[in-house]
Amino acid sequence: MGEQKKLYIKTYGCQMNVYDSERMAEALGGSGYVTTETPDDADMILLNTCHIREKAAEKVYSELGRFKGLKTANPDLKIGVAGCVAQAEGEEIMRRQPMVDLVVGPQSYHRLPELETKAREGRKALDTDFPEEDKFDHLAKRPKAKRGPTAFLTVQEGCDKFCAFCVVPYTRGAEVSRPVDRVLTEARDLVERGVREITLLGQNVNAYHGNGADGDWTLSRLIRELAKVEGLERIRYTTSHPNDMDDDLIAAHGEVPELMPYLHLPVQSGSDRILKRMNRSHTAESYLRLIERIREARPDILMSGDFIVGFPEETDADFEDTMELVRQVRYGQCYSFKYSTRPGTPAAERAQVDADVASERLQRLQALLTQQQTEIQAAMVGKEVGVLFEKVGRREGQLIGKSDHLHAVHAEASPDMIGKIARVRITSAAPNSLAGKVI
Ligand code: 5AD
Ligand code: SF4
Repeated sequence: MGEQKKLYIKTYGCQMNVYDSERMAEALGGSGYVTTETPDDADMILLNTCHIREKAAEKVYSELGRFKGLKTANPDLKIGVAGCVAQAEGEEIMRRQPMVDLVVGPQSYHRLPELETKAREGRKALDTDFPEEDKFDHLAKRPKAKRGPTAFLTVQEGCDKFCAFCVVPYTRGAEVSRPVDRVLTEARDLVERGVREITLLGQNVNAYHGNGADGDWTLSRLIRELAKVEGLERIRYTTSHPNDMDDDLIAAHGEVPELMPYLHLPVQSGSDRILKRMNRSHTAESYLRLIERIREARPDILMSGDFIVGFPEETDADFEDTMELVRQVRYGQCYSFKYSTRPGTPAAERAQVDADVASERLQRLQALLTQQQTEIQAAMVGKEVGVLFEKVGRREGQLIGKSDHLHAVHAEASPDMIGKIARVRITSAAPNSLAGKVI
């Protein structure tokens, strides 16, 4: 056995990346790496990048610059770039930042041990292919380490929707679903290792169509099967496209107790004209009708979403349609962004909205979303909720967990309650969390 080496991973962007970073740490665990919280004494620094934000690649280059001092002080330090910027930029990264030793795209994380060896030998360690094989299969072969109570499980990757603003179909490629048996095996393995809640991940997770013994399975069928796994108490999924919410998935929200009452269903805009220009293939009305049906199946479901303001050609009237849609839905929690151009996407070529106008719209939208979130959290006070405790809180004797509706909840409880679900009466609401008493 070689000496233990320290691995520092910095993760940007989405939950997919959080999950991928965990898998990368496990893959490199086999090469003698343990993770560390600071880059200062690391033997390898990995940036797990995200391409969704504006000037993503430029930000990675300037972030890399900050590690120059560490590299000079320790020439054995290896620096790697992973994630969607690695996929998009490829070799260019090594040309522009010669101190980068390793570049790996999201489809090739199982090759990390090999790439690490190459990098140590001073050879070019680059892999941004889209291989045919299932990368998860390689990553799954690892010792059974204990896990925390919650985990992400990627079931689908990539996207065929081509929204006019988005780079995902280019960086993550076409939609691919993992076969049913592999998902079920990994889920059972996670539960054996202590996991009680699984969030099924995919850029377009509700378009899941993984191969099963009797043909392709839908996401709802997969959820119904997962619900039978002994010890798996909670199931969530993210993120979804409105057009892929089929009847059985809606029904599952009313019929599967393990499926938690929280749904992230991005709409992006409330203006039909803009939705069309975004290539979203749904209308504000069809989205609202869909939510009505979901709420019929599960009345207490908490809705979440994504919005883009200042999309090219968006007028004041278009923006008011977005505000009106938000008023009608009443969201529990949302993400909202100012549009920013992604070179190579159709919207990048169009007439851009004035930056100040877009900022002002974003502020108004966020004020409304915050108001709704605050009201919904305040309305939880006095209610009894299920809480899965995940870790100890900052205050002595306190644990932190998540409610069924994904609210962070603080409550006094003994540490042996970590990993267990308790009934909690909510006593107060703060801006980003709730406090309660275990019943
Ligand atoms: N500009 C602003 N926001 C974007 N998103 C994706 N691409 C862009 C862009 N070019 C947002 C969308 C998506 C979320 C993950 O990021 O709202 O749902
Ligand atoms: Fe991007 Fe649209 Fe696909 Fe979501 S559905 S990943 S926004 S192209």
